[in-house]
Amino acid sequence: MVLSKCIQKASLYSWWGYSKVLEYYWGMGRRRVDRDSEFLRNGFKLGTLNFDELTSLMDLLESAPDQKMNAQDCHPEYLNNPYLEAIQSKFDDHFCYYDISGHRDLLRKIFSNYSSTVRDCLGHPARIVNIRCWKTLSGATEEGPNAWHVDHLAYGVHKMLVYLSPPGEETGTTEIRLKDGSVKSVKGPGGTWIFFNPTDSIHRGVPPRIESNERIILELMTVPAFKENFEPVFAGLNATYPWFPWTEI
Ligand SMILES: [Fe+2]
Repeated sequence: MVLSKCIQKASLYSWWGYSKVLEYYWGMGRRRVDRDSEFLRNGFKLGTLNFDELTSLMDLLESAPDQKMNAQDCHPEYLNNPYLEAIQSKFDDHFCYYDISGHRDLLRKIFSNYSSTVRDCLGHPARIVNIRCWKTLSGATEEGPNAWHVDHLAYGVHKMLVYLSPPGEETGTTEIRLKDGSVKSVKGPGGTWIFFNPTDSIHRGVPPRIESNERIILELMTVPAFKENFEPVFAGLNATYPWFPWTEI
């Protein structure tokens, strides 16, 4: 227990130190990039996949095997969400995960198009450390990811949520509480995405209101990196990010 707490602290400090060095190197050195004004202003960036990208992802899901949430499904060198085990049974009724790990080539081809967008938001490169894809059915309770919360992730860890179903109040979406107290609800066509820091932003998932609707999301977890790498990584359904910045799986 004591050892685990020590490793957790070492992990947090190592990510903080690594990110600060990276920010200094990219912010102060010759590699300075013009950061995305929307991301700097709002704390998030919205965009939309193109038609071909969305179509090929939807086609992929047709053949992707279903999976149930498994709180133990986490690479040994990654942090998991320790609170998930207590609410795992709730996931089985209203969440269904897709195993898309057999589609690395397609995912690499699509999301490498977004590495520069992420770099412009952050001001430095990033790498993908996990990809998950799931659907939320109507009737999901306001618990876990559907309750207002922040993710307790290390400094610099960000998420891109890609809505493969059109996000909206009726169809299911994500809400983010802004610094002025207002709530931003993501709306748009299928393929809409949002890139944000889930530790800095209070947010919640909103399940579909209409019974036959499904909210389908593909999530990319990114961490700061000296070398950009948008190679797909599948670390587990309950995996977040590696314990240490130098860990690559
Ligand atoms: Fe979250």
